[in-house]
Amino acid sequence: MSGRVGTNRSAAYPFAKLRGGSLRLVVMSHVLAAVAWPYANGPRHIGHVSGFGVPSDVFSRYMRMAGHDVLMVSGTDEHGTPIQVQADADGVTPRELADRYNRVIVEDLHGLGLSYDLFTRTTTRNHYAVVQDLFEALHANGYIVARTTLGAISPSTGRTLPDRYIEGTCPICGYDGARGDQCDNCGNQLDPEQLVNPRSRINGETPNFVETEHFFLDLPAFAEAIGGWLDQRENWRPNVLKFSRNLLDDLQPRAITRDLEWGVPIPLDGWRDRADKRIYVWFDAVIGYLSASIEWARRTGDPEAWRQWWSADAQGKDASAYYFMGKDNIVFHSVIWPALLLGYSGEGDKGGQPGPLGKLNLPTEVVSSEYLTMEGKKFSSSRRVVIYVRDFLERYDADALRYFIAAAGPESNDTDFTWAEFVRRNNDELVAGWGNLVNRSISMAAKNFGVIPPAVDLTPEDLALLEVARTGFTTVGELIGKHRQKAAIGEAMRVVAEANKYLSDQAPWKLKDESQKQRQGTVLHVALQVVSDANTLLTPFLPHSAQKVHELLGGVGTHAPMPEIVEVDDLDGGPGYPVLMGDYTVGARWESVPLVAGTVLNAPKPVFRKLEPTVVEEELARLGGDS
Ligand code: MF3
Ligand code: ZN
Repeated sequence: MSGRVGTNRSAAYPFAKLRGGSLRLVVMSHVLAAVAWPYANGPRHIGHVSGFGVPSDVFSRYMRMAGHDVLMVSGTDEHGTPIQVQADADGVTPRELADRYNRVIVEDLHGLGLSYDLFTRTTTRNHYAVVQDLFEALHANGYIVARTTLGAISPSTGRTLPDRYIEGTCPICGYDGARGDQCDNCGNQLDPEQLVNPRSRINGETPNFVETEHFFLDLPAFAEAIGGWLDQRENWRPNVLKFSRNLLDDLQPRAITRDLEWGVPIPLDGWRDRADKRIYVWFDAVIGYLSASIEWARRTGDPEAWRQWWSADAQGKDASAYYFMGKDNIVFHSVIWPALLLGYSGEGDKGGQPGPLGKLNLPTEVVSSEYLTMEGKKFSSSRRVVIYVRDFLERYDADALRYFIAAAGPESNDTDFTWAEFVRRNNDELVAGWGNLVNRSISMAAKNFGVIPPAVDLTPEDLALLEVARTGFTTVGELIGKHRQKAAIGEAMRVVAEANKYLSDQAPWKLKDESQKQRQGTVLHVALQVVSDANTLLTPFLPHSAQKVHELLGGVGTHAPMPEIVEVDDLDGGPGYPVLMGDYTVGARWESVPLVAGTVLNAPKPVFRKLEPTVVEEELARLGGDS
């Protein structure tokens, strides 16, 4: 019914469209959904996807339905010491480890139906080239400077030991488990050579400290520009804004290279061919948002198309950019990434020329979530306090998890996942609320009419319910746009509750007499219309079931588009890899679509599954970590 045909990504707007009976001007804009890049060091657990995954997908799906041109990008984050250390432990190369988990993670995110325009990885040649371009331009503008520092070397391997792989006694509070970067007991930042009795956390040996040269990003040169930018931010979650502002008080130059063989080479003469120095993983990872956008454009056959989301000039003038992550990532997105973008554009204290890609847009909003705990404990794979996405999806439906995350996830407070609460919400809200409304209204209409009956002589009650659904498009949409997804799904479920109440009040099952047939049809028509509207309101949250409900109502075609796993060649001759991509120009719009009387209805199959209460004990028995 509502399958819309492709919009042209490069056409110019605004356009007006008919919505809910009133003419409303919708100004289309380019919206970048930049989603944190998961480390390719293991499968994803439900804590990860509740932070960056589901919220970014809900937002992107809604923005597309509302007529915006969304570009949702991410990929696996594959460099850095943690990957190297884990590869050493597993007896494989870092590349082999990254290959393995890149594929696993692509499957995890696919299983959840996350609608990435491109989910790629940081080991592509395209990414290396873009990272090196930014490094060179920042260096040319004077924002990257060389410095000699003291580095810790492992005597047995000759490799550098990064700060967090060294532990010892804190010189400030005397705590014995302090790390080389900070003491978790007193919270002070440390340098590894300050530790008393320093030792390697990998094998216990005492490191040697030697002089070594590294490149530093001159963060203080951006304090003013970042401060000015933060001052103009609107709608940020107050905690995130305050935290980001506080970071500006004590900005220090920050090392952006490491003594490591695994990573992007430093693109400067005398450094390019050194096997022992690489760009720091966080420097390369944040650039992934840009390199993935460029890769997407190159893959769609219009290599310059990325500029519509990124260029700070006319080509990107209607662009906005939303970054989704867990709270431990805030500093990298609200300070470091803006600093790189400003320096590249020549807009720090030292001025400079924009790099070859031109001036680039800063984030519009850094959308950070809090932490999800698991039955009261921190996730920990080693202590088996973990639920992997793939294990979850083997036993339960993706939309059941998506519902829980949207309705009860860590949006702005740390939140606990418990199996009891998961089962309760699934059974009481999804199955008994929404599933029941779908099921009883469609089966009653199918049984009594075989088609969607016509609506004749609407009563005030009918009109009131239709109006509740229609207003939902405004309230739910605005809440999603403001990243208040808990409230948004609550409003959508309120429409569902009103419709259930309407059915109980009107009791169409009692209108059995031939003289009441027309009224019975009208009530069912109204109920089905509201099912259709509520289904559209729930589509960003529950895309898999929304497609099913669309079909149960006699709809054809794609209602909620899904990502696909595609095996691609590296664009520049590197090894091939799997990506997530999709055609999201098809699918329902954010509007009420009038049902057509006479559309054939079949007896519905249940869309949601009720869970046995025994699920709770079974799942608790699988978890470890009682310590
Ligand atoms: N890999 C990081 C993490 O899981 C997130 C990187 S986000 C990006 O915490 F900015 F680097 F892309
Ligand atoms: Zn301390």
